[in-house]
Amino acid sequence: MLVILKDDYDAMSKEAALIVVDRLRKKPNMVLGLATGSTPIGLYKELIRMHVDEGLDFSKVTTFNLDEYVGLSPCHDQSYQYFMKQNLFNHINIQAQNIHLPDGMANDIDHFCDWYEEEIRKAGGIDLQILGIGPNGHIAFNEPGSSLGSRTRIKTLTENTRKANARFFKSINEVPKYAITMGVGTIMDAKELVLLANGAGKADAIKAAVEGPLTGQCPASIIQLHRKTFVIADHDASSKLSGSYPGTWRSSFMLER
Ligand code: GLP
Repeated sequence: MLVILKDDYDAMSKEAALIVVDRLRKKPNMVLGLATGSTPIGLYKELIRMHVDEGLDFSKVTTFNLDEYVGLSPCHDQSYQYFMKQNLFNHINIQAQNIHLPDGMANDIDHFCDWYEEEIRKAGGIDLQILGIGPNGHIAFNEPGSSLGSRTRIKTLTENTRKANARFFKSINEVPKYAITMGVGTIMDAKELVLLANGAGKADAIKAAVEGPLTGQCPASIIQLHRKTFVIADHDASSKLSGSYPGTWRSSFMLER
């Protein structure tokens, strides 16, 4: 694991973009795993900027998103499908048939989840998976207590997560109670992981994920077992990490773990 500490959100986003762009240039038909939430928006802005300014080409890229709320149509402005269109897909030259998101309106959710896993497998697996982290240590919608070997499935959202995500809805009553999410095992199959975190609200989760015991109570702690993981955190999100960091804040500091 490589923990990369950056001063602020902007620097965190640009660092993540450098990794994505490097992999994309080496493999133009890469399979990219994408995340939603507020955290990766800066990364997506940077990718859009590089597409517009430098012609960064997404025409051969295939994407798989981590998760989607159950019961929200793709037109709902809080569906993750809508989010991805607004924040990335509408602004780059990705081909519609190469985009994959869990279908929150699927009639047979179990069947859909099996199909999603199979599509990832048929695409050759995910080359690089972008991850955010919930304040309770969840990744995608794998809440505390998730099986560390889990595959794509329906999950009940915790009250904690529904409260955290209520800021995007008119009230907490509108936050769906279920989601379809890639499993922890599905995420771990990706060849590389890039986990992003910013803000003091993520400090406990980052400490537990990077330095805590490996436990399903903090699903993100599984990344300690991944062979190629980058954690990119800003000053506040990394503020509870222990270890022998330099005393002064650094524009870029890497800690190998
Ligand atoms: C949601 C998503 C996660 C995301 C998390 C953090 O629960 N399912 O994939 O990492 O929120 O969101 P934010 O980046 O807005 O803090």
